[in-house]
Amino acid sequence: MNDNTDSLYALSERYYLPVYRPRRIVLDRGQGARVWDRDGREYVDFGAGIAVNALGHAHPALIAALTAQAGRLWHTSNVFISEPPLRLAEALVEASRFAQRVFFCNSGAEANEAAIKLARKWATAQGRAPERRVILSFRGSFHGRTLAAVTATAQPKYHEGFEPLPPGFRYSDFNDLAAAEAAMAAGDVCAVLVEPVQGEGGVTPASEEFVHGLRALCDRHGALLVLDEIQCGMGRTGHLFACHGYGVTPDVVTLAKALGSGFPIGAMLVGEQAAQAMQFGAHGTTFGGNPLAAAVAGAALKELSSAALLANVTRQAQVIRDALAALDAEFGLFAQIRGRGLMLGAQLREAHAGKAGEILDRCIEHGLLLLQAGPDVLRFVPALNISDADVAEGLARLRAALLEFKRG
Ligand SMILES: Cc1ncc(COP(=O)(O)O)c(C=O)c1O
Repeated sequence: MNDNTDSLYALSERYYLPVYRPRRIVLDRGQGARVWDRDGREYVDFGAGIAVNALGHAHPALIAALTAQAGRLWHTSNVFISEPPLRLAEALVEASRFAQRVFFCNSGAEANEAAIKLARKWATAQGRAPERRVILSFRGSFHGRTLAAVTATAQPKYHEGFEPLPPGFRYSDFNDLAAAEAAMAAGDVCAVLVEPVQGEGGVTPASEEFVHGLRALCDRHGALLVLDEIQCGMGRTGHLFACHGYGVTPDVVTLAKALGSGFPIGAMLVGEQAAQAMQFGAHGTTFGGNPLAAAVAGAALKELSSAALLANVTRQAQVIRDALAALDAEFGLFAQIRGRGLMLGAQLREAHAGKAGEILDRCIEHGLLLLQAGPDVLRFVPALNISDADVAEGLARLRAALLEFKRG
């Protein structure tokens, strides 16, 4: 095996469908909030696989759960039941404080797809004609890439070329309650799909007023409130569920990403009323909630529920916010620092618009893996159990990268 980074990169260019533009490094192993490439370079990981590795890399409890289950039973299909997904469903229902039922799948897009289908079925059961089964979502949202989820994603750049899109979707401005009220005035909306904190769209939290207002509008119009917590859920905001932080009771919550903390699994959590819409045969998937994925997610959920971990989220979030404010005072780069918990965004000032990708490249050169959310926002979504030392080192490397960026 004499492959080096360049030859492996060339393989990716040769064989992968070119839908991604990965950075020119080849990651090889990880430990906690640090990763190493195959040339032995070490990085602080502030991206966590796009908010997935919530417990960092190679967490011992996850390895133990995975290896124990790997020697036992990997997959049954949903024709049979096994204990790990049952225990996971039970734990999620208890932890959610609203759900009564769970549907497991394999990704975020599938969880949202399930929620869209459930909302349509639910409206059908209410006797609503097809044209009165509209799903309302918000500009700047991201709900996944399957055809219905991408249609709910109210950003034209994700739609272009994929038309005809499925009908029955409507868009409104995020954090604009009056606009949502107008969009629902005809009484034809059967569900409102919203991220409590928009992730891909720029790390923008919904206001308390907006979330509570949407709950009231859903109640008034007999629509389901579906919260997409795929990125902001599972402890990321400092609450196990983002809706707990808002003090709002949803009808449906979708989860993925940190749920398996690196092992693919998604889930749709449903309150009793909405759950009644789905009967035998209404939906399904071969792999959803397979014992291997569920065993890992069960172990992850235990860790993510710990008060100490959630307190760490709040504490480290403040450290990063303060550091970003100090960096802004030094370099004058950021127009706004926003987010909730360890889901933080630094919006670049007008003068540096479109430069997030360039800054990320500089960060890699200085041993920091960071994300962007669009061309103008740096996105910080590190592991939720990240240590003081790793946060400090990551921020020091960020400063070095920004210094170089500023010098040009
Ligand atoms: C809020 C939100 N919803 C849905 C998705 C889609 O999840 P997946 O990529 O697992 O299909 C994402 C992924 O970034 C997301 O951030």
